Amino acid sequence: MTGPIPLALLPDGARLASEDVLVGGVSLRELASRYGTPLFVYDEATLRARAAEAARAFDDGVAFASKSFLCAAMARLAHEEGLCIDVATGGELDLVLRAGVPASRVILHGNNKSVEELEAALGAGVHRVVVDNEDEIGRLAKLVSPERPINCLIRVTPGVEAHTHEFIRTGQEDTKFGFSLASGAARRGIARLRAMPGVRLHGVHAHIGSQIFELDGFVETLRILGDFVSGDDFDEVCIGGGLGVAYVEGEAAPSITQWASALRETARAVGLPAGTRLLAEPGRSIVAQAGLTLYRVGTIKQLTQRTYVAVDGGMSDNPRPVLYGSGYEVFDVGRPRAERPRRVRLVGKHCESGDIIVDEAHLPAETAVGDLVATPVTGAYGYSMASNYNRVPRPAVVFVGDGRARLALRRETFDDLSRLDVDA
Ligand SMILES: Cc1ncc(COP(=O)(O)O)c(C=O)c1O
Repeated sequence: MTGPIPLALLPDGARLASEDVLVGGVSLRELASRYGTPLFVYDEATLRARAAEAARAFDDGVAFASKSFLCAAMARLAHEEGLCIDVATGGELDLVLRAGVPASRVILHGNNKSVEELEAALGAGVHRVVVDNEDEIGRLAKLVSPERPINCLIRVTPGVEAHTHEFIRTGQEDTKFGFSLASGAARRGIARLRAMPGVRLHGVHAHIGSQIFELDGFVETLRILGDFVSGDDFDEVCIGGGLGVAYVEGEAAPSITQWASALRETARAVGLPAGTRLLAEPGRSIVAQAGLTLYRVGTIKQLTQRTYVAVDGGMSDNPRPVLYGSGYEVFDVGRPRAERPRRVRLVGKHCESGDIIVDEAHLPAETAVGDLVATPVTGAYGYSMASNYNRVPRPAVVFVGDGRARLALRRETFDDLSRLDVDA
């Protein structure tokens, strides 16, 4: 854990030079001087490779879960690589459509879709609406007609407890999402949807959670779904997202291809009809490892108990450690091949003791104020969950590839932050 940063945690093709790291053929030190810090850097080739892998591994209709990371460039990239885009709110839907993704490649999720969100989806003509609950069926009944039909899936809870943090576990009975299989609610929901003119119900959907390393939970879920739909004439089964990724040294996750293979085998074993499309909605497994965050060290405080290394971002650009106790690694961009023997706590600039990015981080002994450090595997649920806490502007996002960088999202300014304040 105290050796140089493992290459496996960096985007594909990254190179450790003696005093720099190259991602997509671009120097991280140059990116920091050109765009400032904190900075999200995404390797476009890694994003495309994972998106294409998902499109190959599953059937047509497999979607990128945009909640994991969304901007116009990302929506277009996922679309170009053959994925549908899963959106969970009107805001995500709006951005994806603005990016030029055809509505016919968009899937609307959400456990509390408003009438406005449903109307926007119907008006645009989205590919699927994933119906979550009885109230939503009631809302749809007023909006849908044979002249204005929708294609949908029904979200069910299979009663499977995924091995992951309880806040990102969703397949169990006690959850706000979906119709319970065990209680009969799913059967009743299906009957109601089938009785509605204009509703075309294509199949079932389940999402058991996120950051899951063991495939057995997905396999068990597909077995349950297979049994459940055996008497129906559905043409789609969606297993949701949730495939885990390695964040720290020593972790290993199955690939998207391995995930899909295990599911295809299960689909055969449970006798899903050959024409049934096997679908999924990966988010993290497409974007996490493609991204990293660059920070500048601002102060180092050495105590007898520990050393605090404070950088110019924090819980506003990466809330995952605070939310879920998630672990990350950090490395010194100017000394990437150096051993990292110095145990430190990497913290941000926010007014909270809990503003911790890496609780038990390792850095080279020489890392000093003014140096550039990076946390790898921050491509998922970092920017998309970013906030303006303490009125800290959101970082810029750059895509790199073939030795070039392009700005995908510019850095927020103080003017951006004040735009909603009617008296400012
Ligand atoms: C319904 C649904 N699908 C897909 C995903 C994406 O999950 P992940 O990013 O873990 O692949 C989520 C994440 O919360 C989700 O709620």
